Amino acid sequence: RIGMNVQDLSKLLHRDTAEIIKKLFLLGIMTNQNQSLDTDTIEILAADYGIEAQVKAAEDVADIDRFFDDENIDEGQLVSRPPVVTIMGHVDHGKTTLLDYLRNSHVTEGEAGGITQHIGAYQTQLNGKTITFLDTPGHAAFTEMRARGANVTDLTILVVAADDGVMPQTIEAINHAKAANTPIIVAVNKIDKPGAKPDDVMNQLMAYDLVPEEYGGDTIFVKISAKFGQNVDELLEMILLQAEVLELKANPDMPARGSVVEARLDRGRGPVATVLVQQGTMRVGDPIVVGNTYGRVRTMTNERGVELEEASPATPVQVTGLNDVPQAGDRFIVMADEKTARAAGEERAKRAQEVIRNSGAVVTLDTLFSTM
Ligand code: GTP
Ligand code: MG
Repeated sequence: RIGMNVQDLSKLLHRDTAEIIKKLFLLGIMTNQNQSLDTDTIEILAADYGIEAQVKAAEDVADIDRFFDDENIDEGQLVSRPPVVTIMGHVDHGKTTLLDYLRNSHVTEGEAGGITQHIGAYQTQLNGKTITFLDTPGHAAFTEMRARGANVTDLTILVVAADDGVMPQTIEAINHAKAANTPIIVAVNKIDKPGAKPDDVMNQLMAYDLVPEEYGGDTIFVKISAKFGQNVDELLEMILLQAEVLELKANPDMPARGSVVEARLDRGRGPVATVLVQQGTMRVGDPIVVGNTYGRVRTMTNERGVELEEASPATPVQVTGLNDVPQAGDRFIVMADEKTARAAGEERAKRAQEVIRNSGAVVTLDTLFSTM
């Protein structure tokens, strides 16, 4: 903290500069608000305010991962929540077409006609039931999020084009879903095409333990045309059916926590993060720690740009009000007050910096070349 003056310190301690100056005066140190302070003086003052204890508390609250243990969730309060679905498949097999069809055809009443913004996740409705879709680009986002400990997907929709069959990225997708332990529903797509051979796809997938129910297995297959919407409702029904089997539950009655789907810096609005609420209910004004960032939820909007006052489990929302841009897969948690959120966020950012510094210290020519 070299170069800190009285004003900086008073901000840091959340005290009036006058109070700090008075306290220093009582310690025999004459200052004005612009005078820089030496480390000893800062330490004496900080000790006077019990700062050491505060640093400890910051370290404690900074450990936000522990809030994600199941034991922190009151079983008695659990209610069912919508499934969170990721769509995967080989290049050009129709993932985007399917997501776009769902986006435009199954919109909540009152939101139709709203201008959709790509925020990385959205919800669709069928017969009054909700499904949350993660619209993350390709497998990278999925694996990245998982690598960061955010296992947010309940169900994987594997899209396989009936005119192309099982391809390398189809197999990759199967492996990702298996590693994440999420059930797979197969959407055999492009059945409208003249060269479509949906039965071939079913036969090919048996080699990967995806056996259709009609052949004695337990994998759900739906033959669809994402382009024309054929059987897409049936696919949604199957998702809801599978979700029921999974008995997905959450407690809406606690401070919210969840994961970042994507985040970026917006010119006008500052850092914006699309987050998925996984437990609890998030509200505008909530003090929040998101990865190594913190803030207060200023606004919450959905994909249609509709401002929400609160977001319950499995709801994706775009949030503004953070001090910096978090990363996809970061976890967030609502804190009791803004001061605690700030302390936790700053502590986490500091630790992240230390990790970078430490890893920087061990860069040698060898490690440099091995990464080239
Ligand atoms: P990547 O994002 O590049 O991996 O591809 P994708 O899986 O998102 O595929 P996309 O939805 O972009 O579809 C690729 C092409 O297939 C586009 O030209 C679509 O119009 C077409 N397509 C997708 N679904 C169908 C379908 O059901 N029937 C027909 N006939 N064409 C389809
Ligand atoms: Mg696409």
